[in-house]
Amino acid sequence: MRSLLHLLAFSASAAAQNCAFGGPIFPAPKSASSSTAIQHARHNFTQSLRSILRSSSDPDVTAIDPDVTSFAVQVYSVHEEQPLVEYYHTAKAVRNNTVGVNKVDEDTVFRIGSISKVHTVLLLLMETGDASFHEPISKYLPEIQEAIEALEGSHDDVDHVRWGEVTIGELVSQAAGLFRLYGFGDLTETPDLMSGLGFPPVEEEDIPPCGFYPPCNRTQFFNGLLGTHPVVPTSSVPIYSNDAFVLVGYILEALTGKSFVDLVEERLFERLNLTHSSPTKPADDIGIIPGLVNETFWDTDMADMIPTGGIYSSAKDMSRFSRAILTNELLSPALTRRWLKPQAHTADPSFSVGAPWEIYSVNDARKVDLYTKGGNIGSYSAMMGLSPDHDVGFTILVGGNAATSATWALGDLVTGIVIPALDRAAREEASKHLAGTYASGNETLRLVTDHGPGLKIAKWESNGIDILESLNSLQSRPVDGTLDVRLYPTGLESTAGSGRNGSTTVSFRSVISGPPPMGPPNGPLTRLCYTWLTVGNTVYGSVALDEFVFKIGEDGDAVSLSPRALRTSLARVRH
Ligand SMILES: *[C@@H]1O[C@H](CO)[C@@H](O)[C@H](O)[C@H]1NC(C)=O
Ligand SMILES: *[C@@H]1O[C@H](CO)[C@@H](O)[C@H](O)[C@H]1NC(C)=O
Ligand SMILES: *[C@@H]1O[C@H](CO)[C@@H](O)[C@H](O)[C@H]1NC(C)=O
Ligand SMILES: *[C@@H]1O[C@H](CO)[C@@H](O)[C@H](O)[C@H]1NC(C)=O
Ligand SMILES: *[C@@H]1O[C@H](CO)[C@@H](O)[C@H](O)[C@H]1NC(C)=O
Ligand SMILES: *[C@@H]1O[C@H](CO)[C@@H](O)[C@H](O)[C@H]1NC(C)=O
Ligand SMILES: *[C@@H]1O[C@H](CO)[C@@H](O)[C@H](O)[C@H]1NC(C)=O
Repeated sequence: MRSLLHLLAFSASAAAQNCAFGGPIFPAPKSASSSTAIQHARHNFTQSLRSILRSSSDPDVTAIDPDVTSFAVQVYSVHEEQPLVEYYHTAKAVRNNTVGVNKVDEDTVFRIGSISKVHTVLLLLMETGDASFHEPISKYLPEIQEAIEALEGSHDDVDHVRWGEVTIGELVSQAAGLFRLYGFGDLTETPDLMSGLGFPPVEEEDIPPCGFYPPCNRTQFFNGLLGTHPVVPTSSVPIYSNDAFVLVGYILEALTGKSFVDLVEERLFERLNLTHSSPTKPADDIGIIPGLVNETFWDTDMADMIPTGGIYSSAKDMSRFSRAILTNELLSPALTRRWLKPQAHTADPSFSVGAPWEIYSVNDARKVDLYTKGGNIGSYSAMMGLSPDHDVGFTILVGGNAATSATWALGDLVTGIVIPALDRAAREEASKHLAGTYASGNETLRLVTDHGPGLKIAKWESNGIDILESLNSLQSRPVDGTLDVRLYPTGLESTAGSGRNGSTTVSFRSVISGPPPMGPPNGPLTRLCYTWLTVGNTVYGSVALDEFVFKIGEDGDAVSLSPRALRTSLARVRH
């Protein structure tokens, strides 16, 4: 028992030992495609994909039936033109199609369903920044204002949404607690089936007059939505609602005086030259139509539901679109950073919600947050994802039978094989460009990469004094042996002082692993990674001991390193 406790305590403290302050553990790789890690991952991805590309009736086996499911997958870095990983598959069933493409490639158009919500939120951010997130939706929607007035005196919290309290920010981050989807797929469409299943008939007025066909117009939508019950109060827990984004579409139209279709065409697709993206059905000959047109939803006009799920796009266009997000082409870097943040947790600690991001914390070695959005409509299923830590994005577009499970199977391969390899690719580059020996006068500092995160200080001496020992003696609880100190990028970079030679200064902070000051990690609180609370806690003349700045030359190689508290700059003398 004693030894078991000891072991548990040890492994918890070992895990906490290399815990950084969040964010990337190395600078994002600039040429990931040439790293061994990505080359292996690419091979592994292809092998693993081929092994599941077979028909299987076993419900416990993940398989994508190659005869009836077509797809396109791309993983790409903003630093490279060509995708890091790509794979296109054309189902046997569509190879002889007379409508739509017979071969899937990066230009093939799929429906992307609810990924459209990302376009909608991006348009809103381009128009108003996130200042509008705190505004009540009633300010832009007269129907909502009327409903608030009509409900005055008879409001019932279980039956009625408190419309006056709903903000735009709650709509876009699934925090309004609204009905999921009015009209579309309501079971009253099949009264005979429902009666056979034991459901009584419903009043005529409860039967939506619209939904899939014909789509609801604005009057019908508000009439319908205002009669639905809330799910939860605003800003309690995230509850997925498509109708929230129909409302955002109307708000955008009120803000701009333009139709949503025109907005998305002009401000996104024309601006970014996305010739294979559209809010309405494009020519059949550029799309994948995996079955009868009327049964795939290929030609279903989403009308006022376009902001929630109507957009069509290709793998190449989705890559261009996502690169524009990751490189701050349409929004400022500060706004993009605010946008790529969670707004709420779900019941699963690895799954958070943003606006409108579905945020997965994946990876075993350390948690990597992927900002994703999924979409499903008819025979189509899709997922896009962004990894801000790596400047990398991915797109999965599927058309055919069991499209949703194919998307998840492909998503598992991308997030299980390719994403973890990105930290390794980043380590390979850090090892080449940043690790090495830095020296000036009789001060020497050696940085190495090992299996752990960040750049480890292997040796640091000044005037014959071991600085790692000095740092250890400054700890509240010094360790036996050599201190483990690792440098992590902060994201602060500058070209301000570079003059003509194109150098960049890049800031890092070091993290010292040692015994936690609050005692051994035995319980839920002491087991947590508390590093972010302690960054910069020791200072020398108002400069923190953990601050380090590299000067990086134009070729990406470090030229010098400054441990800023020591007021020295050490030239890189050996790689
Ligand atoms: C597609 O057409 C080719 C040539 O006409 C034919 O050999 C093949 O059997 C057809 N495949 C399917 C799945 O119908
Ligand atoms: C919506 O459709 C209904 C039924 O066809 C019609 O009465 C109403 O005028 C339409 N409203 C709008 C805004 O088009
Ligand atoms: C826009 O994209 C099309 C097709 O991908 C390409 O042929 C064209 O050169 C692009 N135009 C611009 C201005 O980049
Ligand atoms: C789709 O169209 C085909 C004929 O083109 C017809 O046989 C089929 O019943 C239609 N399906 C639906 C769901 O309407
Ligand atoms: C592929 O990657 C997975 C997940 O990282 C790993 O478990 C598996 O061993 C790898 N397979 C090969 C052949 O490298
Ligand atoms: C280190 O260098 C300084 C001057 O650069 C010198 O004064 C000092 O004696 C040197 N110390 C050792 C231990 O070599
Ligand atoms: C060029 O870069 C080096 C080190 O990166 C720096 O010391 C030097 O001042 C720079 N020269 C100019 C002209 O900016």
